[in-house]
Amino acid sequence: MTDTSSAPQAASNANADAGAQAPMNNASAASAAAAAAPVAPVASPASANGKKPWETLPVTVKVNGESHGPMDVPAGLMMIDFLHETLGLTGSRLGCGQGICHACVVIVDHADGTSETVRTCITGANYFDGKTVRTVEGHATRDTDGKVTLAPIQQAFLDHFSFQCGYCTPGFVNAATVLIERLKRNPIARADLEAAITEGLNDQICRCTGYVRYYEAVRDVVLRTPGCIKDSK
Ligand code: FES
Ligand code: FES
Repeated sequence: MTDTSSAPQAASNANADAGAQAPMNNASAASAAAAAAPVAPVASPASANGKKPWETLPVTVKVNGESHGPMDVPAGLMMIDFLHETLGLTGSRLGCGQGICHACVVIVDHADGTSETVRTCITGANYFDGKTVRTVEGHATRDTDGKVTLAPIQQAFLDHFSFQCGYCTPGFVNAATVLIERLKRNPIARADLEAAITEGLNDQICRCTGYVRYYEAVRDVVLRTPGCIKDSK
Protein backbone atom coordinates (compact mmCIF):
# COMPACT_ATOMS: atom_id res chain seq x y z
CA MET A 1 0.00 0.00 0.00
CA THR A 2 1.19 3.48 -0.74
CA ASP A 3 2.35 5.47 2.29
CA THR A 4 -0.09 8.27 2.90
CA SER A 5 1.60 9.68 6.00
CA SER A 6 1.46 13.37 6.63
CA ALA A 7 5.02 14.34 5.59
CA PRO A 8 4.50 14.05 1.81
CA GLN A 9 1.12 15.71 2.16
CA ALA A 10 2.61 18.56 4.16
CA ALA A 11 5.33 18.87 1.56
CA SER A 12 2.76 18.96 -1.19
CA ASN A 13 0.83 21.66 0.62
CA ALA A 14 3.98 23.64 1.30
CA ASN A 15 5.00 23.29 -2.32
CA ALA A 16 1.66 24.53 -3.52
CA ASP A 17 1.61 27.40 -1.03
CA ALA A 18 5.00 28.53 -2.24
CA GLY A 19 3.94 28.29 -5.87
CA ALA A 20 6.93 26.05 -6.63
CA GLN A 21 6.90 24.16 -9.93
CA ALA A 22 9.58 21.51 -9.32
CA PRO A 23 8.59 18.22 -7.63
CA MET A 24 9.77 18.02 -4.00
CA ASN A 25 12.10 15.17 -3.02
CA ASN A 26 11.87 13.24 0.27
CA ALA A 27 14.47 15.39 2.03
CA SER A 28 12.65 18.55 1.08
CA ALA A 29 9.37 16.99 2.19
CA ALA A 30 10.82 16.10 5.56
CA SER A 31 12.28 19.57 5.90
CA ALA A 32 8.94 21.16 5.09
CA ALA A 33 7.18 18.87 7.55
CA ALA A 34 9.67 19.77 10.24
CA ALA A 35 9.18 23.44 9.52
CA ALA A 36 5.45 23.03 9.91
CA ALA A 37 5.72 21.14 13.22
CA PRO A 38 5.28 23.06 16.47
CA VAL A 39 8.60 24.00 18.05
CA ALA A 40 9.19 22.72 21.58
CA PRO A 41 10.37 25.37 24.02
CA VAL A 42 14.13 25.27 24.59
CA ALA A 43 15.06 24.50 28.19
CA SER A 44 17.30 26.99 29.96
CA PRO A 45 20.85 25.67 30.20
CA ALA A 46 21.92 24.52 33.61
CA SER A 47 25.22 23.13 34.84
CA ALA A 48 25.57 19.85 36.71
CA ASN A 49 25.20 21.65 40.02
CA GLY A 50 21.73 22.84 39.07
CA LYS A 51 22.82 26.46 38.68
CA LYS A 52 22.64 28.41 35.46
CA PRO A 53 26.15 28.83 34.00
CA TRP A 54 26.13 32.56 34.59
CA GLU A 55 25.15 32.31 38.25
CA THR A 56 28.07 32.45 40.63
CA LEU A 57 29.43 30.10 43.26
CA PRO A 58 32.16 30.63 45.84
CA VAL A 59 35.68 29.23 45.54
CA THR A 60 38.52 29.21 48.01
CA VAL A 61 41.24 26.82 46.97
CA LYS A 62 44.87 26.12 47.74
CA VAL A 63 46.91 25.42 44.61
CA ASN A 64 50.56 24.39 44.81
CA GLY A 65 50.69 25.68 48.38
CA GLU A 66 49.20 29.07 47.60
CA SER A 67 45.71 30.07 48.78
CA HIS A 68 43.29 31.75 46.37
CA GLY A 69 39.97 33.30 47.29
CA PRO A 70 37.41 33.53 48.54
CA MET A 71 36.03 34.62 45.19
CA ASP A 72 32.88 34.07 43.16
CA VAL A 73 33.12 32.24 39.85
CA PRO A 74 30.49 31.44 37.21
CA ALA A 75 28.72 28.18 38.02
CA GLY A 76 29.58 26.87 34.55
CA LEU A 77 33.29 27.64 34.82
CA MET A 78 35.36 24.48 34.51
CA MET A 79 38.43 24.12 36.69
CA ILE A 80 40.81 24.07 33.73
CA ASP A 81 39.60 27.51 32.66
CA PHE A 82 39.88 28.74 36.24
CA LEU A 83 43.48 27.53 36.34
CA HIS A 84 44.35 29.02 32.96
CA GLU A 85 42.45 32.28 33.02
CA THR A 86 42.10 33.20 36.69
CA LEU A 87 45.28 31.80 38.23
CA GLY A 88 47.51 31.97 35.15
CA LEU A 89 48.53 28.32 35.54
CA THR A 90 48.54 27.14 31.95
CA GLY A 91 50.42 23.85 32.36
CA SER A 92 47.31 21.68 32.62
CA ARG A 93 46.33 20.58 29.13
CA LEU A 94 42.89 20.64 27.56
CA GLY A 95 42.78 17.57 25.34
CA CYS A 96 39.43 16.00 24.59
CA GLY A 97 37.45 18.32 26.85
CA GLN A 98 35.08 15.42 27.47
CA GLY A 99 36.62 13.55 30.38
CA ILE A 100 38.22 10.83 28.29
CA CYS A 101 41.94 11.52 27.74
CA HIS A 102 42.89 12.64 31.28
CA ALA A 103 45.42 15.14 29.92
CA CYS A 104 43.83 17.75 32.18
CA VAL A 105 44.00 15.98 35.54
CA VAL A 106 45.25 17.68 38.68
CA ILE A 107 45.99 16.13 42.05
CA VAL A 108 43.63 16.68 44.97
CA ASP A 109 45.25 16.08 48.35
CA HIS A 110 42.96 14.86 51.09
CA ALA A 111 43.28 15.50 54.82
CA ASP A 112 43.92 11.79 55.51
CA GLY A 113 47.11 11.89 53.43
CA THR A 114 45.64 10.22 50.36
CA SER A 115 45.57 11.85 46.95
CA GLU A 116 43.68 11.38 43.71
CA THR A 117 43.55 12.79 40.21
CA VAL A 118 40.53 14.82 39.11
CA ARG A 119 39.68 15.82 35.53
CA THR A 120 39.50 19.59 35.29
CA CYS A 121 37.81 19.76 31.88
CA ILE A 122 34.55 18.35 33.21
CA THR A 123 34.75 19.44 36.85
CA GLY A 124 33.55 22.87 37.85
CA ALA A 125 35.86 25.22 39.71
CA ASN A 126 33.39 25.33 42.59
CA TYR A 127 33.94 21.58 43.20
CA PHE A 128 37.44 22.48 44.39
CA ASP A 129 36.17 24.92 47.01
CA GLY A 130 38.03 24.18 50.25
CA LYS A 131 40.35 21.67 48.56
CA THR A 132 44.10 21.39 48.24
CA VAL A 133 45.30 20.95 44.69
CA ARG A 134 48.57 20.28 42.92
CA THR A 135 49.03 21.06 39.26
CA VAL A 136 51.96 20.18 37.01
CA GLU A 137 53.53 23.51 37.98
CA GLY A 138 53.78 22.30 41.58
CA HIS A 139 56.27 19.46 41.14
CA ALA A 140 59.61 21.06 40.29
CA THR A 141 61.42 23.23 42.81
CA ARG A 142 63.42 26.40 42.25
CA ASP A 143 66.21 27.47 44.58
CA THR A 144 67.12 31.02 45.52
CA ASP A 145 69.45 31.26 42.52
CA GLY A 146 66.58 30.32 40.21
CA LYS A 147 67.93 26.85 39.50
CA VAL A 148 65.08 24.45 38.73
CA THR A 149 65.15 20.86 39.95
CA LEU A 150 62.58 18.58 38.40
CA ALA A 151 60.67 16.05 40.47
CA PRO A 152 62.03 12.51 40.03
CA ILE A 153 59.13 11.46 37.81
CA GLN A 154 59.57 14.50 35.56
CA GLN A 155 63.30 13.79 35.22
CA ALA A 156 62.59 10.12 34.52
CA PHE A 157 60.16 11.00 31.71
CA LEU A 158 62.87 13.15 30.17
CA ASP A 159 65.58 10.54 30.64
CA HIS A 160 63.43 7.84 29.05
CA PHE A 161 62.23 10.06 26.16
CA SER A 162 58.74 9.10 27.30
CA PHE A 163 56.91 11.78 25.32
CA GLN A 164 57.02 13.36 21.89
CA CYS A 165 54.73 16.38 21.65
CA GLY A 166 54.32 16.38 25.43
CA TYR A 167 50.66 17.34 25.36
CA CYS A 168 49.71 14.40 27.57
CA THR A 169 52.70 14.75 29.89
CA PRO A 170 51.20 16.93 32.66
CA GLY A 171 48.48 14.31 33.11
CA PHE A 172 51.01 11.49 33.19
CA VAL A 173 53.13 13.38 35.75
CA ASN A 174 50.15 13.78 38.05
CA ALA A 175 48.82 10.24 37.61
CA ALA A 176 52.28 8.75 38.20
CA THR A 177 52.78 10.94 41.26
CA VAL A 178 49.50 9.74 42.77
CA LEU A 179 50.53 6.14 42.05
CA ILE A 180 53.98 6.50 43.62
CA GLU A 181 52.55 8.22 46.69
CA ARG A 182 50.00 5.42 47.04
CA LEU A 183 52.72 2.80 46.84
CA LYS A 184 54.67 4.62 49.56
CA ARG A 185 51.64 4.41 51.82
CA ASN A 186 50.79 0.85 50.79
CA PRO A 187 53.86 -1.00 49.49
CA ILE A 188 53.36 -3.90 47.10
CA ALA A 189 55.35 -6.97 46.11
CA ARG A 190 57.74 -6.57 43.19
CA ALA A 191 55.74 -9.15 41.27
CA ASP A 192 52.69 -6.90 41.39
CA LEU A 193 54.41 -3.75 40.14
CA GLU A 194 53.62 -4.08 36.43
CA ALA A 195 49.93 -4.48 37.18
CA ALA A 196 50.02 -1.53 39.58
CA ILE A 197 51.60 0.72 36.93
CA THR A 198 49.08 -0.41 34.33
CA GLU A 199 46.23 0.36 36.69
CA GLY A 200 47.71 3.68 37.78
CA LEU A 201 48.29 4.97 34.24
CA ASN A 202 45.44 3.20 32.52
CA ASP A 203 43.27 6.29 32.10
CA GLN A 204 46.00 8.43 30.53
CA ILE A 205 45.82 8.66 26.75
CA CYS A 206 48.86 9.50 24.63
CA ARG A 207 48.47 9.88 20.88
CA CYS A 208 52.19 9.95 20.08
CA THR A 209 53.93 7.08 21.82
CA GLY A 210 53.40 3.42 22.63
CA TYR A 211 53.23 4.14 26.36
CA VAL A 212 56.17 1.80 26.92
CA ARG A 213 58.63 4.54 27.81
CA TYR A 214 56.18 6.16 30.18
CA TYR A 215 55.73 2.81 31.94
CA GLU A 216 59.50 2.18 32.04
CA ALA A 217 60.12 5.58 33.60
CA VAL A 218 57.51 5.01 36.29
CA ARG A 219 58.92 1.55 37.03
CA ASP A 220 62.40 3.06 37.47
CA VAL A 221 61.18 5.72 39.88
CA VAL A 222 59.15 3.25 41.91
CA LEU A 223 62.08 0.83 42.21
CA ARG A 224 64.42 3.53 43.49
CA THR A 225 61.91 5.19 45.79
CA PRO A 226 62.34 3.75 49.28
CA GLY A 227 59.27 2.06 50.73
CA CYS A 228 57.28 1.35 47.56
CA ILE A 229 58.22 -2.34 47.20
CA LYS A 230 57.92 -4.89 49.99
CA ASP A 231 60.47 -7.36 48.63
CA SER A 232 63.36 -7.26 46.19
CA LYS A 233 62.22 -10.06 43.85
S1 FES B 1 40.86 17.13 28.47
FE1 FES B 1 40.04 16.46 30.32
S2 FES B 1 39.78 14.33 30.08
FE2 FES B 1 40.52 15.02 28.13
S1 FES C 1 53.47 12.73 23.70
FE1 FES C 1 52.03 13.59 22.31
S2 FES C 1 50.09 13.01 23.16
FE2 FES C 1 51.53 12.01 24.39
